[in-house]
Amino acid sequence: MAGQEQGLFSPDLLSPEVQSALPEGYVLRALRRTDYATGFLDCLRVLTTVGDISKDQFDQRYDWISRQEGGYFILVIEDTNSSPPRVVGTGALLVERKFIHNLGSVGHIEDIAVAKDQQGKKLGLRIIQALDFVAEKTGCYKTILDCSEANEGFYVKCGFRRAGLEMAHYY
Ligand code: ACO
Repeated sequence: MAGQEQGLFSPDLLSPEVQSALPEGYVLRALRRTDYATGFLDCLRVLTTVGDISKDQFDQRYDWISRQEGGYFILVIEDTNSSPPRVVGTGALLVERKFIHNLGSVGHIEDIAVAKDQQGKKLGLRIIQALDFVAEKTGCYKTILDCSEANEGFYVKCGFRRAGLEMAHYY
C-alpha cells in the first residue's frame, strides 16, 4: 500500500491466492513495527502467555527479527472493516538452512493464532497456506511443526500428517 510501511519482508512473498480467498476487507501482510498497537500481541494471547511487553522491547525484538535475512517471517491478517483496523490472525515461519540434503532448507511453522471471535472463518487455514507459499518461495523442501493433540485435526485439514515424535528440554 502506498505510504505504508512494508514490514518485515517483501510483498512478493505474500500469496495472491490467499489474499483473494480472504473475506472482504481482510488483508494479508507482513508484520509491521506499528503492530505493537494493532492487536497482534492480543492475538498471540489466545495461544499462550505473552507477558507485559513495552513498546521499546517490542521494537528491539522486531529489529532483531528483521536482521535475520530471509530466516524469520511473521505475517498477519488484518481486518480493515474494524475501526481502527485490527490484527485478527498471525503465523510465523523460520527457515533453517542446513548442510544436509545439498544445503537444503526446512521451514518451521510457529505461533499460529486467530483471535477468539474470528475463529472458524478459515483464517487459520489461510495463514498456513500463506506460510507454505513463503516456504516454497524461499526454497524449503518441507515444513514441520509441533502441536497439541487438540489441534491435530486442524493441521490435518491443512494437509499435514503426523511424522515423528517431539522431544523437549525446558530451561
Ligand atoms: N480440531 C479439528 N479441526 C479443527 C480445529 C481443531 N482444533 N480447529 C479448526 N479445525 C478445522 C475447521 O473446522 C475447518 O474445517 P473445515 O474445512 O472442514 O470447515 C478447518 O480446520 C480450518 O479451520 P479454520 O477456520 O481455518 O480454523 P481457525 O481460523 O479457527 O484457526 C486455530 C485454527 C489456529 C487452531 C485457532 O483455533 C487458534 O488460534 N487456536 C488457539 C491457538 C492455537 O492453538 N494455535 C495453534 C498452536 S500450534 C502452532 O502454532 C504450530
